[in-house]
Amino acid sequence: MSTRTLSAERAVDLVHDATTAPSVRNARPWRFRCLRGERTFEIRADSERALRHADPDARGLHIGCGAAVLNLRVAAAHAGWRPEARLLPDPRDPTLLVTVHLADPDGGESDLAALYPAVHRRHTGRLPYAGKPIPTSVRSALAYAARREGALLEFPGPGHLGRVPEPIEEAESRDRAGTRRIPGRESADFERAPRLALLSTLRDHPEDWLRAGQAMERVLLLATSEGLVGAPVARALGLNALQTASIAAALPFAFVMLFVCYGLLRGLRMEAQRQTVLEMPPIIQIRGASVPWQQWLKTIVTWPRREEVESFLRETVAPALREVAEEFRQAGLEATVAKDPQEISLTIAQQGAREFLYAVHAKGYSTPAFALPDTSRRRRSVESRRYFRADVRILEGPQHYDVMGYTKEQIIGDVLTQYDKHVRFLIQSG
Ligand SMILES: Cc1cc2nc3c(=O)[nH]c(=O)nc-3n(C[C@H](O)[C@H](O)[C@H](O)COP(=O)(O)O)c2cc1C
Repeated sequence: MSTRTLSAERAVDLVHDATTAPSVRNARPWRFRCLRGERTFEIRADSERALRHADPDARGLHIGCGAAVLNLRVAAAHAGWRPEARLLPDPRDPTLLVTVHLADPDGGESDLAALYPAVHRRHTGRLPYAGKPIPTSVRSALAYAARREGALLEFPGPGHLGRVPEPIEEAESRDRAGTRRIPGRESADFERAPRLALLSTLRDHPEDWLRAGQAMERVLLLATSEGLVGAPVARALGLNALQTASIAAALPFAFVMLFVCYGLLRGLRMEAQRQTVLEMPPIIQIRGASVPWQQWLKTIVTWPRREEVESFLRETVAPALREVAEEFRQAGLEATVAKDPQEISLTIAQQGAREFLYAVHAKGYSTPAFALPDTSRRRRSVESRRYFRADVRILEGPQHYDVMGYTKEQIIGDVLTQYDKHVRFLIQSG
């Protein structure tokens, strides 16, 4: 029997991950209770958050709770557990929708854990989508993800769509006031043929709605991992909206209609970011001195704390700048070193021309999720989630590289490289 316990901190993290799930009108209609000793979570419907008019038979509520359960399972698998979910485990208590027990791993379903990074990245897409078609292999993977949760995901072809204009058209308007442009409001061109997917289960009971919710979230997380954006559509919830459609005859019950597409804006933004990064010098640049590769590697894989960078500024950068300033002075130039805990700088006056500045400052960044060894650390404090770099700034602006870990000689080499460029600039600009 396992002795691994579920800490209170870990339990809070898991619920936090679970509750990033989508829900109709963001009602978040769930309540979580953790029985830590039994390593079990109970998920109940929160009746105060039920949407009695928009969701009278609580299909949407169950789907949202199912999505939260899938997130919980993904987060638990990522934390090294084997989540076992039981749907509607107590027939006398219909408000207890699901229990999730955290069992010991048995080498089984590891692909759930792989979806974890998408848990916090997934969002309902409401921006225009790119028209780029989704490759067959990706569609098949999405359909397989739905099947793993006991649901069917279909991408209706144009033939189908032609026969079911009404619900599709209604869904396509997606709260966007159709294609009309409203004076005074920002507008955007939406794609003409969104990639529509229908998610269905065999029967039409609360248990099936919970399954549909888990399947929907699994599809959305996988879609997010594939660079797609998804949007569930409430108006097509349940059989009613589709019952007149011929497509429904081919499907058991259609519960959720999803738009799954490549995001136009996100894609463009990512492309622009990639280009910028490609054009940037590498973060670790050692100039003016040869560097053992081990030092280089260490700088790439470590995520220093503020105190480490500040002590580096004090113990390595300050002596380097003082030493190089002394040499400049001996060459007849006016050189000054200024120092505060976060920044050390060297200024060289250039008689009637633009002065030279070389500053190194401790700058905080968010540590990427992949570099955080333990999810519990993520919640402790904002400070503990940050790492620091010793970034170089010259008069013209930040230089986007980090000198943390350089030796004194390497810092001096870097100063001289920048100074050399400055002098060339002064010569060229006359
Ligand atoms: C079953 C279901 C149906 C939904 N229907 C719609 C919809 O018709 N229109 C819409 O804009 N968002 C819809 N949403 C998305 C929610 O509004 C969204 O999940 C919520 O606002 C939280 O935002 P997030 O998904 O970006 O975390 C739906 C979500 C679910 C679970």
